[in-house]
Amino acid sequence: MRIQEAYDIIRQDLKDVELEFKKNLDSDIYLIKKVGEYLLNNGGKRLRPSLLLLFARLCGYQGNRHIPLAAVVEFIHTATLLHDDVVDNANMRRGKAAANTLWGNGASILIGDFLFSKSFYLTVDDGDLHILKILSGTTTQMAEGEVLQLLKGSDAEATEKDYMAVVTNKTASLISASCRIGAILGKVSTDKEDATARYGMDLGIAFQLVDDCLDYTSSNEELGKTIGNDLREGKITLPLIHTMKKTTRAEREELLAAIETNDLKDSQLLSVISLIKKYKGIDYTLGKARQHVEDAKTHLSSFEPNLERAALIALADYVVERAY
Ligand code: IPE
Ligand code: IPE
Ligand code: MG
Ligand code: MG
Repeated sequence: MRIQEAYDIIRQDLKDVELEFKKNLDSDIYLIKKVGEYLLNNGGKRLRPSLLLLFARLCGYQGNRHIPLAAVVEFIHTATLLHDDVVDNANMRRGKAAANTLWGNGASILIGDFLFSKSFYLTVDDGDLHILKILSGTTTQMAEGEVLQLLKGSDAEATEKDYMAVVTNKTASLISASCRIGAILGKVSTDKEDATARYGMDLGIAFQLVDDCLDYTSSNEELGKTIGNDLREGKITLPLIHTMKKTTRAEREELLAAIETNDLKDSQLLSVISLIKKYKGIDYTLGKARQHVEDAKTHLSSFEPNLERAALIALADYVVERAY
């Protein structure tokens, strides 16, 4: 199945989710409304709500709770992006100016907080304590991931294991929770709920590994974010961790200088990219991502082969093939 066909299955639900966003971004406070509209009109891939909706269908759910809950996971995601772009000094998001460049860091942080609060209001409104517990655990884990990255992310001695802890916490946890909530709505067995959560975890890890590759290999236009920003911020991701293990002493010095400078030159970025290429840092990272995607797909084996399962397999493949 092609990725577009996977999205087609939930086309109507996704439209309803957009309406739900709109409803909940309404506020008497002008700036919230304004930034809310900006975020709404410049949407991303909607990966997390799509996973929730597909799993709800796969697990036979028939009611209406999936729509607000799908909005919740995208609100949480959007809140973390608002905060993340402040922390990462990013100025481009989804092909447009990032909110922090238009309205400043303060507004981004506070509107991120507004979205977090809305998410929990909507979850309490839904009334399922199991789901509330999963989501509050997830946001705690995401915050831990971002703080861990702040502490360890630019440490040249950081290992692949340290990096994986960051990735699992900051990115895979929400993707996994999105899948799991869909399964909970369908009231499946604990085994199936666990398999669903594992699918999301492996998919989420692969997703971030690929994001970290695209930060080196894509272009601003295609990715909709500024290329090389991880290095510019001194953030050491797997392509670089792998490369650092292989370089000569002189090359390592060159990498360290590029990581540590506050004013990365284009020529420095290019020479880091060529070292990553020389030591196959991207191949290595994509290889790991592919392994996780294969593992994700095997977690679906306890489900009947049907349209939704095929869509979830297509989504898994898309994660490593995607260009943005
Ligand atoms: C970006 O997530 C943050 C990461 C976890 C890498 P997405 O790539 O899903 O962002 P949008 O929502 O599609 O813009
Ligand atoms: C993902 O990490 C951030 C979150 C999970 C909040 P990145 O910092 O790599 O994401 P981008 O590249 O800014 O989208
Ligand atoms: Mg970032
Ligand atoms: Mg990134």
